[in-house]
Amino acid sequence: LELQMNLEEIEKGGYDHFMLKEIYEQPRAIMDTYRGRLLADQGIIRMAGIDQNIEKFVNANRIIIVACGTSWHAGLVAEYIFEDLARIPVEVEYASEFRYRNPVITDKDVLIAISQSGETADTLAAIKLAKEKGAFVFGVCNVVGSSIARESDAGAYTHAGPEIGVASTKAFTTQITVLTLIALKLAKEKGEFSGSKFHEYLTELETIPAKVEKALKSNDLVETVAEVYKDSTNCLYLGRGYNFPVALEGALKLKEISYIHAEGYPAAEMKHGPIALIDEQMPVFVIATKKGHYEKVVSNIQEIKSRKGKIIAIVTEGDEQVKELADHVIEIPETLESLTPLLTTIPLQLLSYHIAVMRNCNVDQPRNLAKSVTVE
Ligand code: G6P
Repeated sequence: LELQMNLEEIEKGGYDHFMLKEIYEQPRAIMDTYRGRLLADQGIIRMAGIDQNIEKFVNANRIIIVACGTSWHAGLVAEYIFEDLARIPVEVEYASEFRYRNPVITDKDVLIAISQSGETADTLAAIKLAKEKGAFVFGVCNVVGSSIARESDAGAYTHAGPEIGVASTKAFTTQITVLTLIALKLAKEKGEFSGSKFHEYLTELETIPAKVEKALKSNDLVETVAEVYKDSTNCLYLGRGYNFPVALEGALKLKEISYIHAEGYPAAEMKHGPIALIDEQMPVFVIATKKGHYEKVVSNIQEIKSRKGKIIAIVTEGDEQVKELADHVIEIPETLESLTPLLTTIPLQLLSYHIAVMRNCNVDQPRNLAKSVTVE
C-alpha cells in the first residue's frame, strides 16, 4: 500500500491532485495534439483519417456529433466552428438520447463520436446504430485502442496523455483542438477560406499553448475569488456563441467536484428564467471576451448588477468596460473568437478546483462519479 501511495505521489509530479496537474499540462497537451498535423509554414493541415475520407466529409448532408458529459460540451464548441468556418450543418446529440430516439440517419451523414476514454457505453451504442444505418463514423478519442476508436471507420486521437482526474480538463481542450483542425481542413477543402485567412488561423492556433500558459497565471487571483464564493449554494454561468458551451462546462466542473449547484446558460436566455434567481447571494460567472457579442454580454452584466448579483467576469486582456461593472475580472489573452474557448475555460477549471479543495472535497475522485462509464 505504501509503495502504491508513493507511486501515486510521483505520478502527481509535485501537484496536490491529478486534476491540477492535468490543468497545467494543457499547453503541452494542446501542442502534442496539433504537432505533426498543423504545418503552418507549409499552409497545410495533415490528418490521415480526414485525408483518406475527405469526400465523405465534403459531400456530407450533415455532421452528427454524439458524446456525453464534457465531451458533449466539446461537441457543442465544434458545432459553432464547423458551421461558422466549414459551412456544414451540424447536430450535437447526447449519445444516450440519440441511441433510443429512432434517429433519421442516412449514408450521406457523417457521425463524429467524441470520447476521452473511448469506452462510454452510450456513445459506443450510438456509433453502432449509425454504422448499421450506413453513416460514416469518425472517432475522436484519447485512449489509444479503446472500443470507440476500434469501432469507428476512421478517427483522430487527441494526444492529451492519460487523464486520471475524474473531472475532465485536458481532454476537453485537446478535443476542441482536434475538432478545430478538422473544421479548418474542411473549410479549406471546400474553398470557404481565402489563403490569408486560413494562414491566420494556423499561425494563431500555434500561439494557443503560450496563451494557455498565460491564462494559467491567473491562478492566484482565481484562488482569491474561490475563497469569496466557496460557500455559495448556487452559481450561474453565462456565455454566448462560442463561449456558451464553455459556460456549460464551467458549471459542470463546479457541480462535479465541489457539489455546488451550478447552471450554465446562454447569456441571452437569462431573461427567460434564471434572472428570477438573481439576488445578492448569487455569484454569476460571465464570459465576456471582446468580439463575439461583447456589447450584448455587457448589457446582460448590467441586468445582473441591477439585481445585485455578484459578477465574476472572464474578459480579454486590457478590458475596461466590464471592469467597471464586475466584482472581479479575470483576464485571458486575446485570440480569434473561435479559439477563445481554449482560453476562457482555463480560469473556470482552476476556480472549481480551488473551491473543491477549500470545501475538502475529493477532487480527483468525486462522490458518485466514474472516470469511464461503461454501463448505461
Ligand atoms: C464521465 C466522466 C466525464 C466524461 C464523461 C464522458 O461522466 O466523469 O468526465 O466527460 O464520462 O466520458 P468520455 O470518456 O466518453 O469522454
